[in-house]
Amino acid sequence: MPQEITELTKKYPAVSEYITQIYLILRDYSYCNNRRLSLHIGVSASAVTQAVLRLKKLGLALQDTYGMIMLTPKGTELAEELLRRHYLLEYLMVKKLNFPWELADDEAGHLQDKVSPDFINHLDRELGSPRTCPHGNPFPDNPDAEKILAAPGLTDMEPGDLVEVVRITEEGERIDGLLHACFEIGVMPGNQYIIERFDDASVHLASANTGTTYAFDRRFAEHIKVYRKDIP
Ligand SMILES: [Fe+2]
Repeated sequence: MPQEITELTKKYPAVSEYITQIYLILRDYSYCNNRRLSLHIGVSASAVTQAVLRLKKLGLALQDTYGMIMLTPKGTELAEELLRRHYLLEYLMVKKLNFPWELADDEAGHLQDKVSPDFINHLDRELGSPRTCPHGNPFPDNPDAEKILAAPGLTDMEPGDLVEVVRITEEGERIDGLLHACFEIGVMPGNQYIIERFDDASVHLASANTGTTYAFDRRFAEHIKVYRKDIP
C-alpha cells in the first residue's frame, strides 16, 4: 500500500485530499455525505460528486442510497497511511526544525504523498514513533485515540472551569487564521486555562500558569478540544 500511494496520487492528485478528508470527517462526526465533504474541502458540489465517483471506481469508497459515504478497507488503509505521513512530517517540522506550529499543516499537506515509504519509516524511528501530531490529533493506531477524539470542545465548558488543551481539530486546522490565533495566545496541547466568561465574540481565558488573560475568537473555540481538570 505505501508504494501505491505515490503511484495513485501521481495519477489522481485529488485522491489523497478526498480520502483523508472523508476519513477525518468520519472520525469526528461518524457520518460523511457530499455536502459535508464540499464544505470541508471548500469545493463545489459537482466537484465532490465527480471525486466520489472516482473513489468508487478505484474501490476506495462506497456510497449508500442515502448519500452516506464510507471508505472500503483499502480506502481506510490508504487514508491511515496518508495521515501517518502527514503527522510525521508535521512533527518533524515543528519539533525538530522549529518550523512555525501554525504553518506545518499546510506544508505537510504538500509533501505527504510525495515522500517514499522508506523515508517515512525512517522518520518514524528517528522521531521515536510519536502518538499525536503537534496539534494534538492522534495517529490512527494511537491506543488512546478514542479518548482523545471524545474530548469536549472549549464551547462546552462553563465559566470557572480549568481546562487543558488536548487538540485542535483537523477541521479547525484548515480554518483561516485559527492556528495563528491559537499560537499567539498559546492555545496548544498541554497548556491550561481558566475560563473566565463567554460573550458573543470571544471566550475570555486566563492562563493557569501566568494568569494573563486573553480574548479568544469564539468562532474558533468549538474546534479546540479540552479536558476539564480539577482545580487544585
Ligand atoms: Fe496537525
